[in-house]
Amino acid sequence: MLDTAPISRKSLFVPEAARILDVEPLTAREKLFRVSLNDRPLGHRPCQFVEVSIAGIGEAPISVSSSPASSEIFDLCVRDVGTLTQAMHRLEPGDRIGIRGPYGNGFPVEKIIGKDLLFVCGGLGLAPLRSLILHCIENRASFRRLTVLYGAKRPSERLYREELAAWAKDERLDLRETVDVPEEGWTGNVGVITTLFRAVEVDPLETVAVIVGPPVMYKFAVLELLQRGIMESRIYMSLERRMRCGLGKCGHCQMNGIYVCQEGPVFCYSDVKKVKEAL
Ligand SMILES: Cc1cc2nc3c(=O)[nH]c(=O)nc-3n(C[C@H](O)[C@H](O)[C@H](O)COP(=O)(O)OP(=O)(O)OC[C@H]3O[C@@H](n4cnc5c(N)ncnc54)[C@H](O)[C@@H]3O)c2cc1C
Ligand code: FES
Repeated sequence: MLDTAPISRKSLFVPEAARILDVEPLTAREKLFRVSLNDRPLGHRPCQFVEVSIAGIGEAPISVSSSPASSEIFDLCVRDVGTLTQAMHRLEPGDRIGIRGPYGNGFPVEKIIGKDLLFVCGGLGLAPLRSLILHCIENRASFRRLTVLYGAKRPSERLYREELAAWAKDERLDLRETVDVPEEGWTGNVGVITTLFRAVEVDPLETVAVIVGPPVMYKFAVLELLQRGIMESRIYMSLERRMRCGLGKCGHCQMNGIYVCQEGPVFCYSDVKKVKEAL
């Protein structure tokens, strides 16, 4: 009998060709790429990621930043930090990249229906969280209060600035922003993201919170949420770990036996609070 195992194993690691339709600078360090796969919609859930590759350069996990409702054309927000991402920043519309995925568990949207939602995001954390925020705006009737807290280092480092301006006027959600270092023209809040909590009204029994941001933010944000009486099992977070295969095969992303690429990147605080490397 023909053994097809090696072929199917190989196929898991072979990227699909995708085309860049548009590239837009968001800040000095981040660009937004609008991407389309040749043969299919991506079919992602909020907060899932894809492995992006450029032949001869490398591969890296990047979150899908657009709503699941528009997965024929999907968004990737990329900060140029290293080999793959710097090469991506040199790409133009019409260029090709490789895509594997979507991978990861994504956000359990079915568990938050009918709840007050409190999103806490810092810096590049808005990239993955935007997919969930857009999903919630598009399905607004399924949720109660929708609050977004966003913190950036400087006003010029805020991602999706035009969209933030639109959200600020949108009655369907309550957006509050802060920056660590103000620049000319900034009239908003200055201070770390936890300073925004003071003005936010929270119904502890009805609220689900989602945190995505730099590692240092998690500990302090969790503390604020717990002090307001939000249950540990209703605090979600997306954890980024060094990844290679994205498929639970290589072990690179392991965190105390947890394969973040498959069991995560979205975790409940109650599930990871005892994992030393998590927070
Ligand atoms: C689930 C997930 C989602 C992500 N989503 C996004 C996203 O939406 N947008 C985005 O811009 N990034 C995202 N990232 C981060 C991105 O994958 C990494 O920054 C990735 O390393 C970039 O690849 P690169 O080849 O450009 O950089 P690399 O060449 O890997 O270098 C990146 C940085 O990491 C350092 N580094 C390299 N190897 C190691 C190592 N072994 N240990 C410690 N430091 C090392 C380098 O010195 C450099 O500073 C995500 C990561 C994960 C896990
Ligand atoms: S990245 Fe290979 S097992 Fe998770």
